[in-house]
Amino acid sequence: MKRIIEIAVFVLIAGACVVALLLMNGEEEQGFNFSKGPEISLRNSTQTRIHYGIKPNNTFDPPEKRVIKPKEIHRYNSRFALEISWERIGAKTTRNLTPGRPYAFRYDENNLIKIYEGSHGRADAEDLAPYVATPMEVVAKMLEVAEVDSQDIVYDIGCGDGRIVVMAAEKYGARGVGIDIDPVRIDEAKENAKTANVEHLLRFYLGDATTMNFSEATVVTLYLLPESNAILRPMFDEQLESGVMVVTHNYRIPGWKEKEIGTFYVKDEGDKDHSIFLYKK
Ligand SMILES: C[S@@+](CC[C@H](N)C(=O)[O-])C[C@H]1O[C@@H](n2cnc3c(N)ncnc32)[C@H](O)[C@@H]1O
Repeated sequence: MKRIIEIAVFVLIAGACVVALLLMNGEEEQGFNFSKGPEISLRNSTQTRIHYGIKPNNTFDPPEKRVIKPKEIHRYNSRFALEISWERIGAKTTRNLTPGRPYAFRYDENNLIKIYEGSHGRADAEDLAPYVATPMEVVAKMLEVAEVDSQDIVYDIGCGDGRIVVMAAEKYGARGVGIDIDPVRIDEAKENAKTANVEHLLRFYLGDATTMNFSEATVVTLYLLPESNAILRPMFDEQLESGVMVVTHNYRIPGWKEKEIGTFYVKDEGDKDHSIFLYKK
């Protein structure tokens, strides 16, 4: 009898040790420390749940598995670049994310999910597009096709360094308003307006354009992504006077097909093609 009790106790202790070891291993498996270093934000700007894996790019350990819902933002802190992987037409795609930068899952031109650089990681504001400046020859064509003149008030939504409204003021004497969520861009835009001596014709606002009012605009210019143009469209429907010209660089306004009155093509200095879409509300 004593022998049976000894065996039972031994089996119990051995079992407890195995369970403890398994638990410890499990903890280790999901043990990347994502709490130290500059923040990387990852936004889901698509309309679908996305399964992805994430790990520091300097480790051979398997990635942690995550699911991100539409509109959700995941945040990681890391001193090292993070490697992120997700499925794209059945094949695994990976890319590195740099500490301190915002990113977003978005649709590419073939409607496949891709990771793009973002503009900011704020949860209280839409990320309409990362900063990429429109080449000057494209800016000139956008203003030309919209027939901007000195009576116009040109709104550039997501104005970057202000180049569109600065050219509208310098070349045509138009008034202009630039809106951007990035304070660095607004400072650059003000500086550019000063250098061009057109400060008196322009105003720049720092903030989320989706909370602002565009009703005084006679011309609107956009260089934003298609889903961002789609977010702004109901605001244009509600706020813009009929007859207002809306001119976009490279991306159309989804749902405004009947208002599209022209498409133009321009080559930049590097011979790269750009499209311009012109709408009349
Ligand atoms: C592709 S750039 C266009 C810059 C400029 N319009 C041009 O064509 O050269 C898009 C700009 O939108 C800004 N942006 C992104 N989300 C925004 C938001 N919610 N409100 C205002 N600006 C935003 C970015 O900071 C960036 O400067």
